[in-house]
Amino acid sequence: MDQLLVKSKTLRVDKKIVESSKDAHNYVAVDLNDIPTQTPLSFTVYYPIMSDRETGTAEFQPLIKAGSQLTGEFKKFLQQRDVTKVFIHKEEFNLFLKRSAIRLKELVTNPYLKASKKNEILYRNATYIIKSIFSDPKVGENFKHAISIVEIYSNFISMSEDIHPSLLIQIFAKDYNLFAHSVQVAILAISFAKILGKTQEEIFQLGLGGLLHDIGKLKISEEILNKPGPLTKEEFELMKSHPIYGKEILDKQTSLLPKESIIITLEHHESADGNGYPGKKTLEDTHPLAQIIHIVDCYDALTMNRVYRSALSPFEALKTMCNEMKSSFNLKLLENFIMFLGY
Ligand SMILES: [Fe+2]
Ligand SMILES: [Fe+2]
Repeated sequence: MDQLLVKSKTLRVDKKIVESSKDAHNYVAVDLNDIPTQTPLSFTVYYPIMSDRETGTAEFQPLIKAGSQLTGEFKKFLQQRDVTKVFIHKEEFNLFLKRSAIRLKELVTNPYLKASKKNEILYRNATYIIKSIFSDPKVGENFKHAISIVEIYSNFISMSEDIHPSLLIQIFAKDYNLFAHSVQVAILAISFAKILGKTQEEIFQLGLGGLLHDIGKLKISEEILNKPGPLTKEEFELMKSHPIYGKEILDKQTSLLPKESIIITLEHHESADGNGYPGKKTLEDTHPLAQIIHIVDCYDALTMNRVYRSALSPFEALKTMCNEMKSSFNLKLLENFIMFLGY
């Protein structure tokens, strides 16, 4: 155990400490609970330690070195010091995700763990994966992790007969961020598809399409993505390119991804009345799975706080979708979606 840490009364991650570290961009934060215990780790776990109080700079120092274990005792020690997040170097993050995939498969079949707890852990791990895809969409390995988490989530949903969407939704982020939104669209789509009686294959294509549908936003500037006011005509035109950019990114991974998930990404903003984008396709020309993501995507976006408006309640969101936005959707599907949510 690092002497610095033992001496320290509190190790709570202070955002300022992390940001003041020169190489913060090289580390990914993960929940302490997602580090496996009692097993040798294939990656090193780091923590930012203040190295110079005067200048306020911090350095990431190894907390658990690769090859060592996180013991129950040390975990408790960290928890007592309010450590909830630890860090993994970007270069070793893949090793962490690989280990997580094994752990999550076991977790889903654990009869002693509540469905709500499983959901919470799967959600968090799906967020790590989508973050790593967004940070490097050229790495095929990252997409393999996305495939794995969608398979695990689909298994979880199909094994848990009594899962109600309210259980899944209760942990959803209220404040919009692209990663949470991507994961939430995937989760909702997977569970909705199960109610619709879709095949395992379709559920998988849909989950993966949901997770990746906004990946094209990588190519849209932060300024436009987070603009507090309405977009200008030119900005909106740029924004409307994200499904095409998304397809371009995913087309480089055709050996790994089903073509349906790529079509979903391209068509998730197409509208039943032909007023959507980028193809102005009507309902008949839009892939049935993209029609589902269009509904789920819209619902999730409306129920999150945005910089330009507050989140709508689920009821208000559905009301808006049934009134002002009615012509945009496959109405039979929308009706099913409302029933699925329990309204
Ligand atoms: Fe989108
Ligand atoms: Fe979206």
